[in-house]
Amino acid sequence: MVSAPFSTPLSRKLGLTYPLVCAPMFIISNKEMIVAAAEAGILGTMPSLNARTEAQFEADLKWIREKTDKPFGINVTIGLTDPARLQRDVELCLEYEVPVLLTSYGNPTDIVKQAHDKGVTVFHDVIHLHHAKKAEAAGVDGIIAVSQGAGGHAGRVNPYVLIPYLRQNVRVPILAAGCIGGGDQVAAALALGAELAYMGTRFIASTECGASQAYKDMVASASHEDIVYTDQVSGIHANFLAQTIPDATAPTRGPEAAKRWKDIWSAGQGVSLIDDVKPIEQIVDAIVREFHDAAARLR
Ligand SMILES: Cc1cc2nc3c(=O)[nH]c(=O)nc-3n(C[C@H](O)[C@H](O)[C@H](O)COP(=O)(O)O)c2cc1C
Repeated sequence: MVSAPFSTPLSRKLGLTYPLVCAPMFIISNKEMIVAAAEAGILGTMPSLNARTEAQFEADLKWIREKTDKPFGINVTIGLTDPARLQRDVELCLEYEVPVLLTSYGNPTDIVKQAHDKGVTVFHDVIHLHHAKKAEAAGVDGIIAVSQGAGGHAGRVNPYVLIPYLRQNVRVPILAAGCIGGGDQVAAALALGAELAYMGTRFIASTECGASQAYKDMVASASHEDIVYTDQVSGIHANFLAQTIPDATAPTRGPEAAKRWKDIWSAGQGVSLIDDVKPIEQIVDAIVREFHDAAARLR
């Protein structure tokens, strides 16, 4: 790693070299990504459910702990997870001293209490102010502002509005999620007042990602014209690569909806800015160089 570090109060508090998060992605994030991201100086994460069983999740946490002593995060999808599994996953995170919990799809109040008792940081995923206020009241340490065009379940509000608007209305730090493909967008997100850039789609096209080669190649070759925002896949609006959506797709819920994410591939509009598949260390290095170039242009 040759590029100079840059940071924000939140990235320094977390002990990161750069204010970047390799965001959690259902099915395709894995323990290898967490370790590669951590060693590259950013926050690596994955959803706990990417481990099929609690035993597998515990084995993954042990493996990560053996490979790196740097910070990392685990995502728990509250409303989409069986309550017993959810509680066990949170307990395992606390037992293995996972420094950051990322909560999504539900009320984080209980998890925040358990996490804060152990000094663990909690960030919560939102697409609008109403839920941001609720999360702030629940005591979270930061709000992940998921804007229009993000991979996965995305919001409808442009980041130029969403980030400053949330900043004006909540007191906790903001993490910017959605369409951040490179260092220019990281610089823009920090200029808007975000303290961490939360990037999913860029890291699909990484060597370490668990996505198939065809999925990675499609992300590297697609443009935003290929992205469709629809609730027809899982009942909740999300962004998908159009080529992977079968004709006459009807919305579905529960485990069937979850299974669909295997064959219908999600990605955000940031695909337009992604041209190659490479190791996470090289992705981070490029982002950092681009960030410094963007900052120099502003001087
Ligand atoms: C394939 C895919 C799966 C995702 N799964 C999850 C998930 O399980 N939990 C979650 O909180 N966010 C999930 N997300 C959202 C990401 O964590 C992140 O907010 C988003 O990717 C940021 O937008 P970007 O893809 O434009 O960088 C997913 C995103 C993608 C692309």
